[in-house]
Amino acid sequence: MSPSLALPRFGDKLNSPMFEEFLVRLLEERDRVGLSEMIRGIDALMITVDPDRSVGYVNELCLMTPYHYLVTLESAEHFTHVLRIDLDSPDLLVREVKDPNMRGIFRCLNEVYPVGVDKPNSRYMGEIFRVSNLHDVVELQKEREVRFFNQEQIRKLELPANMAIVKPSPYTHNIVGYWERPEDELRVYALGISTIRDDIQRAYVEAKNMQAGLGLDHLLLPIDHLATRVYSQNREAAILEYLTLSSYYYWGSYDISSQNSSTNVTKSLHYTAESRSPAKVFTAANYPYFVNHLLKLPSPTEAFVRNFGPRLHHLAISVADGQTQGQPNIDYAVAALQGCGKDFLLEVIGSQEEGLKQIFSRASEHSALIVEYVQRFGDFQGFFTKDNVAELTQAAGVDESLRALDAGARA
Ligand SMILES: [Fe+2]
Repeated sequence: MSPSLALPRFGDKLNSPMFEEFLVRLLEERDRVGLSEMIRGIDALMITVDPDRSVGYVNELCLMTPYHYLVTLESAEHFTHVLRIDLDSPDLLVREVKDPNMRGIFRCLNEVYPVGVDKPNSRYMGEIFRVSNLHDVVELQKEREVRFFNQEQIRKLELPANMAIVKPSPYTHNIVGYWERPEDELRVYALGISTIRDDIQRAYVEAKNMQAGLGLDHLLLPIDHLATRVYSQNREAAILEYLTLSSYYYWGSYDISSQNSSTNVTKSLHYTAESRSPAKVFTAANYPYFVNHLLKLPSPTEAFVRNFGPRLHHLAISVADGQTQGQPNIDYAVAALQGCGKDFLLEVIGSQEEGLKQIFSRASEHSALIVEYVQRFGDFQGFFTKDNVAELTQAAGVDESLRALDAGARA
């Protein structure tokens, strides 16, 4: 069997015959032409924020995650702060737009949505994959009708000149980038002049001192998964498109029927540890919004997409298995973060018996992204429990509808 199809399938959500047919055909062909082998893991994640948001956001990320501030790259229209754990997990590139009046394709993706427009430049942009042969990957992807920004567009958008960048997906609005880097070479981003900014450095040191003082520095581990929300009718296309663009495989889908939603998981073919290359999760409503009045079901996922547009909803941080001061590490970490002013959308849910505990933070005021914490116990192999996902989805939906009402009141 083709390597990308040889892994066990999980889940209970039924897919269409079209999905099942093209899952096999796409992955067989991807393996046969060598793309699965040439496209390796995720090297970096790109997030853009509005002017004057990056000091606060770097502070927040350095407190709430294991990331460290490395350097700032300055170009004409952006500051890009490189955050890193180590070279065994992806970097975070936090890009601040300098001019609030700057226009561009990524801003447009926010502006047509009623709540997305509130933070017009703030959005998760996508992932950068390390590839072993950039020329061959780009040529093969072009043959498969994948569209790339040309060099002039990359220059104008101030995207890294040493990468090939796929145009935003019509299904997720995210980009995928490729760059060629031997595994033993450093990651150097062609994003401008390198400086250490004093204000960012201060925000970073303050966050890390607080994190260490709370005893969180050894508990917070790299990113476990990235969860993107898409329109219900785009669920299968978004998954198959991501498998086309990456070397990920289809792990499976779970129906979260009480929330009229499904969770669909893809994982790296090359790295079993999510810390090396996070799982990519797609969440979609089971039914489009216009039949809600007939079904009388909640529809938090579709409501999110209608308010913000298809986009990344949360990034999940692993919490080390074990206990601190007599309680599971995740409970300890959440209580410590609450003690310094961080809000969460619900209590920590799940249990040691079920295998994992999870929680959602309140969405960042800087990026609109939620941080999920997830602690797996012992040798728990599963990715999530359906009960947990239902509760998390419900809590995020309640918070998001309050924010939408708030935005409506201001409009
Ligand atoms: Fe999640």
